[in-house]
Amino acid sequence: MGDNPRRSFLYTMASVMGAAGACATAVPFVRALEPAADTVASGVTEFDVSTVEPGMMATVMWRGQPVFVVHRTQQMLESLYGHDELLRDPLSEAIPEVQADWMKTKEQRITRAIKPEFLVVSGVCTHLGCIPAFEPDREGGGDMPKDWPGGWHCACHGSNYDLSGRVFKGVPAPYNLFIPPYRYLDESTIRIG
Ligand code: FES
Repeated sequence: MGDNPRRSFLYTMASVMGAAGACATAVPFVRALEPAADTVASGVTEFDVSTVEPGMMATVMWRGQPVFVVHRTQQMLESLYGHDELLRDPLSEAIPEVQADWMKTKEQRITRAIKPEFLVVSGVCTHLGCIPAFEPDREGGGDMPKDWPGGWHCACHGSNYDLSGRVFKGVPAPYNLFIPPYRYLDESTIRIG
């Protein structure tokens, strides 16, 4: 990550969101927020991750952008392994925005979270800025590829991400979902930004 991770993140996100207009007209914004598991907490930069039930996802609005907080179960964490060959950037090495200063080990580059059970990741598709739908079940849906490990599907142009927000090969999105700057204020409260 560069000297100013927040500025770098916002600059890149602004570029992505700037391209989102054309996408949003093609697929209604509401469509991308359909997942029943979502809890939406608007206008906050501090969030108690313990309020997210195991296996569920909350969407926290930060600087006008959605940030996904997923309480990953042990099964979900195990699902992160064994499909590297399907991923474009399995260790999040492509650009600084997919990394974080605290990502020191291979394990951290796979789980992509300060506390592995709580993923905090940008909810903006790195293709043209749509909001991917949460598809945590391994069975997946009609649009999911075979052997779907769980993750997100962006209906705009068919990009897929696993449960660490790592993008699959062969889809339009070029990068893993970005990691926003965040830290823990106490055992379960995060401050994003
Ligand atoms: S915006 Fe095109 S696939 Fe997500």
